[in-house]
Amino acid sequence: MVQTATTLDPAAAATPLMLQVSDLNVYYGESHILRNVDLSVPKGEMVCLIGRNGVGKTTLLKTIMGLLKPRSGNIVFSGRSILGKTPDQRARLGIGYVPQGREVIPRLTVKENLLLGYEARAERPRNTQAIPEEIFELFPVLKDMLWRMGGDLSGGQQQQLAIARAIMGQPQLLVLDEPTEGIQPSIILDIESAVRRIVATTGISVLLVEQHLHFVRQADRYYAMQKGGIVASGPTSELSKEVIQRFLAV
Ligand SMILES: Nc1ncnc2c1ncn2[C@@H]1O[C@H](COP(=O)(O)OP(=O)(O)OP(=O)(O)O)[C@@H](O)[C@H]1O
Ligand SMILES: [Mg+2]
Repeated sequence: MVQTATTLDPAAAATPLMLQVSDLNVYYGESHILRNVDLSVPKGEMVCLIGRNGVGKTTLLKTIMGLLKPRSGNIVFSGRSILGKTPDQRARLGIGYVPQGREVIPRLTVKENLLLGYEARAERPRNTQAIPEEIFELFPVLKDMLWRMGGDLSGGQQQQLAIARAIMGQPQLLVLDEPTEGIQPSIILDIESAVRRIVATTGISVLLVEQHLHFVRQADRYYAMQKGGIVASGPTSELSKEVIQRFLAV
């Protein structure tokens, strides 16, 4: 089969895949939300899922995390199907998840929130009370706020805390659902560069749902969703004006 560069599926290319979703169908009751979704995240790459409100982006991420059960299709992580695994097991296998709306625990301190991230590790660290220095290199703002209550942080700071907590679990794949939603522009740039740095320095793969074009462009590849189906995909270097206008709220 002849494929152009824009339609070439990374699944067919030589790069090993961190995540491969195939022919996924998901329902809420009788409403058919995800339709025959195929999506792959190559190892060490950052992939962005775009699409307008309500098309099914969060539903896809929740299904990848095991919070929703698909009616058909498969989800392969690091070479094996994880369909039979609970959300907890998926976290320990190496999938870190920062849900939309982040879910920082307001009545725990920043430090306590961060330490919770260790729960997702397959093996606990020797010192369960220490925060690795790399966390503060990625998110310097957290260093001065360790004793503050999570709920007293700004929205942008809470988002950074939520991503940092996921990194504490040493994931192989980091799944982020709209990390810049409702966040002021200067902090968006901080989050963007931290995520880019995570990909560049740790080898962690990222699956990102995002609406801000500048952040979307940081990804290696994109998939565009409409009415629960993938309708376009390719390298972000080839994002056309038409795709941007159709799938992003810019
Ligand atoms: N718990 C639920 N029960 C029934 N329908 C739901 C439920 N959660 C979401 N939906 C519906 O499923 C569809 C997809 O929702 P989803 O949250 O996945 O969209 P999204 O692309 O993440 O949107 P947004 O950009 O607003 O976050 C929507 O029509 C939504 O109303
Ligand atoms: Mg959503």
